[in-house]
Amino acid sequence: MKRASVGLVLLLQLMPSINCILDRSQFPDSFLFGTATSSYQIEGAYLADNKSLSIWDLFTKIPGNIRDGSNGDIAVDHYHRYMEDVELMHSLGVNSYRFSISWPRVLPSGRFGEINHAGIEFYNKLINALIHKGIQPFVTLNHWDIPQELENRYGTWLNPQIQEDFGYFADVCFRAFGDRVKYWVTINEPNLTVLFGYFTGQYPPHHCSKLVGECQPGDSKTEPYIAAHNVILSHATAVGIYRKKYQVEQKGMIGIVLNAFWYEPLRNLPADRLAVQRALSFYVAWILDPIIYGEYPPEMRKLLGSSLPTFSLEEKKKLENKLDFIGINHYTTLYAKDCMFSPCDFDSHQWLWNASVWFTAERNGIPVGVPTAMPRFHVVPYGLEKIVSYVKERYNNTPMFITENGYPQGSNHNVSTEDLINDSGRVEYLSNYLDSLTVAMKHGADIRGYFIWSLLDNFEWSFGYTLRFGLYHVDFNTLERMPKLSAEWYKQFLTGTNALKEKGSKSQKCGTYVTN
Ligand SMILES: *[C@@H]1O[C@H](CO)[C@@H](O)[C@H](O)[C@H]1NC(C)=O
Ligand SMILES: *[C@@H]1O[C@H](CO)[C@@H](O)[C@H](O)[C@H]1NC(C)=O
Ligand SMILES: *[C@@H]1O[C@H](CO)[C@@H](O)[C@H](O)[C@H]1NC(C)=O
Ligand SMILES: *[C@@H]1O[C@H](CO)[C@@H](O)[C@H](O)[C@H]1NC(C)=O
Ligand SMILES: *[C@@H]1O[C@H](CO)[C@@H](O)[C@H](O)[C@H]1NC(C)=O
Repeated sequence: MKRASVGLVLLLQLMPSINCILDRSQFPDSFLFGTATSSYQIEGAYLADNKSLSIWDLFTKIPGNIRDGSNGDIAVDHYHRYMEDVELMHSLGVNSYRFSISWPRVLPSGRFGEINHAGIEFYNKLINALIHKGIQPFVTLNHWDIPQELENRYGTWLNPQIQEDFGYFADVCFRAFGDRVKYWVTINEPNLTVLFGYFTGQYPPHHCSKLVGECQPGDSKTEPYIAAHNVILSHATAVGIYRKKYQVEQKGMIGIVLNAFWYEPLRNLPADRLAVQRALSFYVAWILDPIIYGEYPPEMRKLLGSSLPTFSLEEKKKLENKLDFIGINHYTTLYAKDCMFSPCDFDSHQWLWNASVWFTAERNGIPVGVPTAMPRFHVVPYGLEKIVSYVKERYNNTPMFITENGYPQGSNHNVSTEDLINDSGRVEYLSNYLDSLTVAMKHGADIRGYFIWSLLDNFEWSFGYTLRFGLYHVDFNTLERMPKLSAEWYKQFLTGTNALKEKGSKSQKCGTYVTN
């Protein structure tokens, strides 16, 4: 409790950097406020209780794949400390928690083996503990960790067989947990799985063309499109099963989660404004158009021609099940430059050359927003309002959740724990992004919830433990959890005991955020 009061003092010192005073009452009572995590990033216990190896368990062991040579074998040991972590959430006052189910924990051999009852038991205990504290589980079926056996047998996303496996996994989860879980996400950020897995090769299964980098043999020109096709149809398979067998009785909602940046035109030129539209098509609409309209976006079909797979009549039938909500993971904004009419200097790290767009975080040497510890992540709060408006317009205001939004801190031996805990940059980021969200809501966007990435510092994929996103600091040696200033801020916002209110004369009320 001593810590909490320290937090309060710190928070009051921070006043000048917060643009406005946010108030829980600006959001509907039913609005979900939570934190988000994923299984591989927090659970650890990578071989406990008959879990099998996931594609990430193997990928992280290959030298050079992870910046600090680390892995998620232990991560933050949530598997054994979940009760403590539920308690942390309860103390924040959140009413929801977004987490994912480890596929290899529940089905070690996919559809080729038995259900692992110890895995089911773990998630039952977690779900029951959450509900006991009034926290709604918001469950992602696949947040990138897939049983390695499925990669070995048939190559996961490159093979239509994955649709059957994913459907089977989803069915097992709906049956086991659907009486208590009312929010389901099929797949997290499919485009990163696809782009990093099959274009740049930075993620498993580590495929790419020679031109792009040193990888397992692959074809960066075609494989991402094939993998995305199977992702989309796997989503449709799971939704079909939910609609047919469970939804009427269980009365939940099912959707998908996208990682969506916002883009601003680099130059004040029509060509760059079109480049922004193309970038959004190639990244956001690539996945959502087929699910909602049954076709890839026209911009992609035009540019890619026969390189883009097409949906058969039977597949279109499958897609008619659509989704109930769109989850948006949003972190930052980049500038987009046209490359159809202007020369661009592509390097291998420019995603999806075929969109003919080049991205940069700087205009005339000036960054698009305050930089963070993550390359290309800058603080640009208005981007959240803009991406939400884009999705709202393109998809007829389908209900949306902000399923991730968060701020990375760098962590090396030179940074003291005190500095990491005094995360004023994160408080500023979160309050300004939430403010931007209220603007989108005022303009009619049907937003139903907001989740901060992340509850705790954890294993940040290819960055290992060098980036920290948590509201709670984790000492990676002792695994002790400690609240950061941002945890105190979130709690005060959620419980309406915002100490800033009394001191707030200098600040305007939120919801009047000025966009560029
Ligand atoms: C793991 O599998 C073995 C063999 O099927 C079984 O005997 C054992 O009880 C399982 N362990 C757990 C924790 O379920
Ligand atoms: C896909 O990934 C790229 C690269 O990280 C990102 O800029 C984009 O917003 C993502 N889009 C979707 C829909 O996932
Ligand atoms: C996509 O981009 C790659 C790399 O520039 C190129 O080789 C390929 O032909 C392009 N595909 C289409 C359909 O234009
Ligand atoms: C840590 O600080 C030392 C001395 O100031 C500096 O030489 C070194 O580059 C720093 N290391 C990192 C990882 O920032
Ligand atoms: C916390 O960080 C802010 C902003 O960087 C700084 O002004 C303040 O002095 C720091 N407080 C402590 C106790 O380190």
